[in-house]
Amino acid sequence: MNLIDNIQQLRVWSGMNRGTRCVLVPTMGALHEGHAALIRAAREIAGHTGNVVVSIFVNPLQFGPNEDFSKYPRTLEEDLVICRENGADILFAPRAEELYLPDRSIQVVETSLSKTLCGASRPRHFDGVCTVVAKLFNLVQCDEAVFGKKDYQQLAIIRRMVRDLDYNIVIHGIDTVREADGLAMSSRNRYLTPSERAQAPVLRAALLKAREAYIQGGERDGEVLQQIILDRIAVEAPLGRVDYVQVVDASTLQAPTEATELRVIAIAVFLGSARLIDNIELK
Ligand code: PAJ
Repeated sequence: MNLIDNIQQLRVWSGMNRGTRCVLVPTMGALHEGHAALIRAAREIAGHTGNVVVSIFVNPLQFGPNEDFSKYPRTLEEDLVICRENGADILFAPRAEELYLPDRSIQVVETSLSKTLCGASRPRHFDGVCTVVAKLFNLVQCDEAVFGKKDYQQLAIIRRMVRDLDYNIVIHGIDTVREADGLAMSSRNRYLTPSERAQAPVLRAALLKAREAYIQGGERDGEVLQQIILDRIAVEAPLGRVDYVQVVDASTLQAPTEATELRVIAIAVFLGSARLIDNIELK
């Protein structure tokens, strides 16, 4: 596996690999078992003959002014090992100064799917995500890319961007990897204190309870499902502050309609300085 840290070198590499299937896994580093699963999935998709590129870039454009950009964990040495052990061919880790020139004036703006859920409390966040992912798609020239369902809204927005900007790239969504107690793995879990960490599994437990009410109990009222989750969190995670709990259409992220094929419940909860997100598909 090779580390490439600049655009010029990446262009040389991609010129030499034209015609070879290329699968991209975009990340912000601080890699954990969830990222590792994405890299392994990319390896399977690429097969023996294809290339797997993992990108690591803590993207300043997607952090709000009061968010954790400067303290976001940076662990390149460990990340290199995880990339290598899970079958990546290239680790692309560009520098911010090279990706974002001081006088840059063009970016991607999403005007619909990003207005709900996490986007409601993180204005411009998904524009930052789309802009960097579009740049990575252009730089790496990948044929396919792999994203986690943990960031369900992000995945839906990337699919929309690929459709609306005519990227000829297949997008794969990979199931969330969890700790043994159900907590979705996240680079931000390390911000939790021991007492917050002890309450964090409630997100998963509450979502499972609501899905059970939907599947086994036939409950179709979104507000009832929402209340099941809120009640559970109030009892089991008194340190938590719910940002949102919503039942939405899995592809539009709006309230479900007659035409909705798949519903998803998405949730975000503040626990101390961490903001945890999770979701569950109702199927
Ligand atoms: P990051 O948070 O590093 O996540 C990189 C990828 O890993 C995303 O597709 C995310 O959904 C996936 N992922 C994170 N935790 C996961 C888990 N527990 N199980 C499965 N997949 C998981 O998401 C970003 O970075 C950035 O927004 C990025 C797309 C790289 C753009 O900057």
